[in-house]
Amino acid sequence: MTFENILVEHEKGIATVTINRPEKLNALNKVTILELHELLKDLDANENVQVVIITGSGEKAFVAGADISEFANFSAKEGAQLAAKGQELLFSFVENMKTPVIAAVNGFALGGGLELAMACHFRIASDNAKMGLPEVSLGVIPGYGGTQRLPQLIGKGRAMELIMTAGMLSADEAYRTGLVNHVVTQEELRPTYMTIANKILKNSPVAISKAIQAVNANYKDGVNGYETEINKFGECFATADFKEGTTAFLEKRKAEFTGK
Ligand code: COA
Repeated sequence: MTFENILVEHEKGIATVTINRPEKLNALNKVTILELHELLKDLDANENVQVVIITGSGEKAFVAGADISEFANFSAKEGAQLAAKGQELLFSFVENMKTPVIAAVNGFALGGGLELAMACHFRIASDNAKMGLPEVSLGVIPGYGGTQRLPQLIGKGRAMELIMTAGMLSADEAYRTGLVNHVVTQEELRPTYMTIANKILKNSPVAISKAIQAVNANYKDGVNGYETEINKFGECFATADFKEGTTAFLEKRKAEFTGK
């Protein structure tokens, strides 16, 4: 599969997806969102892929937002459709992937860029990164889940201030507020996410995907997270990975998980 605006690279079980429109600071246009959907769907169905990294091309930006030039003349109806389609194809899709997805925030993550990073399961940033939801400065609000996920990650008061002021958090502020888990230099970004991804690779893929579903359940309307946890916990007992994990522990050897 070849794409216009994204690149993919495989190393062991780790797939690195790079959004590649550096001349537009990797802004998410329609084509890029469709391509990301197609690629991520394939990666999630590929049992050889156990961790996905999403990053941006170049040294300046992760993603500087939705492509403003594409929606500047939209009607109210088209605006709502843009948000709904984007959430379905990319943002909710990423959050609900069974494969762990890590955002490597290598520069500006603004608007849809920060929303994409927040849809990922967790985030690592380089020290030049700047993050914000500046939509109100354009007369619009975040439409790809930003008003929901930012308060979940940094708390309601901080999220309200950042959104109202169209401000930008430095990488250190993002670390302090829990928006990103690690801040490293640009050179260290790849080695850091590879080290973390390699730690994930040692564990049971099937258990990890059930853990993602259980954690996400807390944020879904009408779903009881504790009940989801009980069900997913029970399901693990019927997996080959559980048999292997417990047997390997008792035999004092390393587990060889198959993800089944
Ligand atoms: N949509 C479309 N194009 C974008 C874009 C976006 N969200 N963000 C940047 N670009 C384009 C610029 O238009 C410019 O294109 P051009 O060279 O054809 O004119 C190119 O990317 C480089 O951006 P530029 O603004 O010249 O870089 P800068 O270093 O001066 O500023 C930013 C960087 C990130 C501060 C600035 O690009 C910006 O504010 N972008 C919009 C951020 C935003 O509001 N995002 C939310 C969208 S809902």
